[in-house]
Amino acid sequence: MGYAMEIALFAHLLSVAVWVGGMVFAHFCLRPGLADLAPQLRLPLWESVFGSFFNWIGGAVIVILVSGGFMLMEFGGANAAWQLNTMAALGSVMMLIYGHIRFAVFPRIRRAVQSQSWPEGAQAVNTVRRLVVVNLVLGVVTIGVAVLARGY
Ligand code: HEM
Repeated sequence: MGYAMEIALFAHLLSVAVWVGGMVFAHFCLRPGLADLAPQLRLPLWESVFGSFFNWIGGAVIVILVSGGFMLMEFGGANAAWQLNTMAALGSVMMLIYGHIRFAVFPRIRRAVQSQSWPEGAQAVNTVRRLVVVNLVLGVVTIGVAVLARGY
């Protein structure tokens, strides 16, 4: 198989770094930095930031799914170690949450900014914030399960 597993793990971890690191930056650095701005400035900024951030995450999700799926098959699929199946399960939940943010909540921010409905926009950004916290916690737990429960 050559270097296929190493390359898959490399791509997997790079994408995990982009996803989880991006959430840390957005939540702990960008959000407090923008908090004092008026909604008329803050919400269009979030719309623009999310517009590109969610595309990066969409790419990362595809790479994580393909590389993780490939490695999981090599480790025996459903018969692989429980840590790997737990990672796949938690990863799938994270991806569903991402999909909800991207395809249900983000369009609400877009519409609110277009129609200058700032309270609706602020509410939708707040929903994204809460879901990102959930995904951040799940991401850290997933990395913890993957690495701390290796058992050697
Ligand atoms: C459908 C989703 C996923 C599948 C099927 C999957 C599967 C795998 C597999 C098979 C490995 C290789 C383990 C090894 O080399 O021993 C791996 C490594 C790893 N994955 Fe995932 N993964 C998924 C999602 C995630 C997510 C969402 C995260 C983090 C947020 C993550 C974090 C890691 C880490 C840190 C490693 C390196 C651990 C190690 O090599 O022991 N994975 N993954």
